[in-house]
Amino acid sequence: MPESETPLFCNYDNSNYQQDFWGEGKRAYEDASEAIALKKLLPAQGNLMLEIGAGAGRNTPRYEGYKRIVLMDYALTQMQQAQAALGKSERYVYVAADVYHLPFADSLFDGGTMIRVIHHLSELPPAFNEIERVLQTNATFILEYANKRNLKAILRYLTGKQSWNPMDLRPVEFVKLNFSNHPQTVERELTKTGFSIKKVLSVSNLRIRSLKNEKNLGWMLKVERFLQDFAGGLRLSPSIFLQTILTRQKPNALPTEFFRCPNCSSYELVEEALLVHCHGCGRDYPIVDGIYDFRLK
Ligand SMILES: C[S@@+](CC[C@H](N)C(=O)[O-])C[C@H]1O[C@@H](n2cnc3c(N)ncnc32)[C@H](O)[C@@H]1O
Repeated sequence: MPESETPLFCNYDNSNYQQDFWGEGKRAYEDASEAIALKKLLPAQGNLMLEIGAGAGRNTPRYEGYKRIVLMDYALTQMQQAQAALGKSERYVYVAADVYHLPFADSLFDGGTMIRVIHHLSELPPAFNEIERVLQTNATFILEYANKRNLKAILRYLTGKQSWNPMDLRPVEFVKLNFSNHPQTVERELTKTGFSIKKVLSVSNLRIRSLKNEKNLGWMLKVERFLQDFAGGLRLSPSIFLQTILTRQKPNALPTEFFRCPNCSSYELVEEALLVHCHGCGRDYPIVDGIYDFRLK
């Protein structure tokens, strides 16, 4: 996709999201609910995982079965926060890039996740196509999405407290560049792209402000653990986790392949101390304190 046609998305550069949104246990229930869901959905073992929109790396330690993890986010400052939290090591590769122009070789990863990201994307199909391109046949891809058709939204709509119809298949932009997607739309697009949905979990089922406190956390998580599977098929929770498998047959990346130019798709990239140079189009991509910056703008 040409750079000029990149769909709009939300830029978190210079945001203090991790602290502001998750700090001081503000969302301990949601965070623990996601940990439970990931444990249920992640394969026991894997080689190379791509975490798309990784933010400050909140979920990264949960991918313990994978030998190596590539954290990728459009915001360089999110990658810096992730590196500060997780450290520099062979196990983690930090990349600033956008999901519409992934700087990776075809069929490179045997695992991928994208959690709390698609509500910031104005178009899903080009993002799913790029993800499909970089995943191997039989790779597991775990996608979380904010569910437009959740129970609270349905009740609010029926009682006149909300103007938009949660049954409408189109995404609703409830705040600028914050979209809520209908399950049918997300799942139809994923399936069209070649992902086969293996498991659906409903997550954060008890997201009720008056219940959420330290005292209630234990029993809430017990109920949550049960409801995730039991109510998964209903898709009425605010957050849905999908476990999908990429079924299309294609050859894996060669062992020597890793990055691909996000501008011209060339594999002729040469890494120097402070940059990666593309021999295809002549672009230089900075390496900022160990973080690859493959953003096009
Ligand atoms: C709500 S945060 C979630 C971070 C992390 N996944 C988590 O759950 O803690 C959304 C993240 O998606 C990233 N993001 C949004 N649009 C993106 C895009 N087009 N490409 C890559 N990352 C993007 C933002 O920079 C931000 O860090």
